[in-house]
Amino acid sequence: QDIPVDGHKRVLLAAPRGYCAGVDRAVVAVEKALEQYGAPVYVRKQIVHNRHVVTELEQAGAVFVDEVDDVPEGAHIVFSAHGIAPAVRDAAAARGLRAIDATCPLVTKVHREAVRFARDDYEILLIGHAGHEEVEGTAGEAPDRITVVNSPDEADTVQVRDPSRLVWLSQTTLSVDETMETVNRLRARFPELHDPPTDDICYATQNRQTAIKEVARDADLVIVVGSVNSSNSVRLVEVARQAGAAAAHRVDYADEIRQEWLTGVGTIGVTSGASVPEVLVREVLDDLAAAGYRDVAQVSTAEEDIVFALPRQVRDAAPEAH
Ligand code: F3S
Repeated sequence: QDIPVDGHKRVLLAAPRGYCAGVDRAVVAVEKALEQYGAPVYVRKQIVHNRHVVTELEQAGAVFVDEVDDVPEGAHIVFSAHGIAPAVRDAAAARGLRAIDATCPLVTKVHREAVRFARDDYEILLIGHAGHEEVEGTAGEAPDRITVVNSPDEADTVQVRDPSRLVWLSQTTLSVDETMETVNRLRARFPELHDPPTDDICYATQNRQTAIKEVARDADLVIVVGSVNSSNSVRLVEVARQAGAAAAHRVDYADEIRQEWLTGVGTIGVTSGASVPEVLVREVLDDLAAAGYRDVAQVSTAEEDIVFALPRQVRDAAPEAH
C-alpha cells in the first residue's frame, strides 16, 4: 500500500460503534446487583464478551462461573446477555439460586420464535456458530427440532425431515451478507423454507456492519476494538476486509496495535464491537495520534436511541431483605 500522495494521515471513525442497548443493560444489571445485594454476585459465563468489562466487574466483586453448579446454593446469579437454555434456568431454580436474567431482549425474541415454530410443528434451521453461548441457549428451547447451520457451505449438506415445514432463524450477531448467502443456498434446496417474522440479526449488529463498510471503502487499514470471542467484533473484521479495506485487525487494547501495520498507511478506519466500552476506542485514538494520525473524522451511517429497561430484580432501588 502506497503512502497517499500528500502523505496525509487520518482516521475515519465509524458510527455507530461500541455498546449496544443489550450490553449496556447487562453490564448495568451486574453493577446494580453488586450495589443491592453486595459481593459476591455470581455471573454465569462472561456477562458480555469483552475482556476489559469482565476484568472490571471481577474487581468490583462479580464472580464468573461456567455453570450454575459452581454457585453456592441460595446465592444471586446473573444470566449473561447471550441468553440461556431452559434447562439452565431450571437447574438454577433447583439449586435455590436467585436469578437476575440479563438476556438481551432481542435474543429472547429469537427464543420465542423458536418456541412458537417448534410448537407449530416446524423444523428449525438455526444459522449461527455451534458452541457460541447464544446458539446453545436458543437451540436449548427445542433441541429435537433445531439444527445449527454454521456456514453457507453447510447449507448445501444439511439434512431435514420435511422440507415443507421448515423455517430458518439466526444468531443475532452474524454477518448480514453471509447469512443471506446461507439462506439463498438453503432456499435453492428447500424452496418452501419460511423466513423469520422479523430480522434476527439485531439492529446493533446491522448498524455497525453498515458503518464499517462505508469506512472500509476508503481505508488502508481497519482496526476493530473487540475480544476474540465476541462474535459481532470478529464479524466486523471480516466485513471490513470484504468491503475493501487493504487490511483489518482486531485488538482488545491499544497496545496490541503493531508498528508494522501502520507502514505506508494513510487512512485508518476504527470501530468497536457491541460489547466494547468507548474508553478502549479512545486509547486506540490516542496511540494513533501519537503515531501521527491526529486528523479524526467520524463517518456516521445511523443514529441509535434504543434503551432497554433493566431486569426486574435490579430495577427497584430498595434492597432485598435478607
Ligand atoms: Fe442484544 Fe444485539 Fe447487543 S442482540 S446484546 S442488541 S448485539
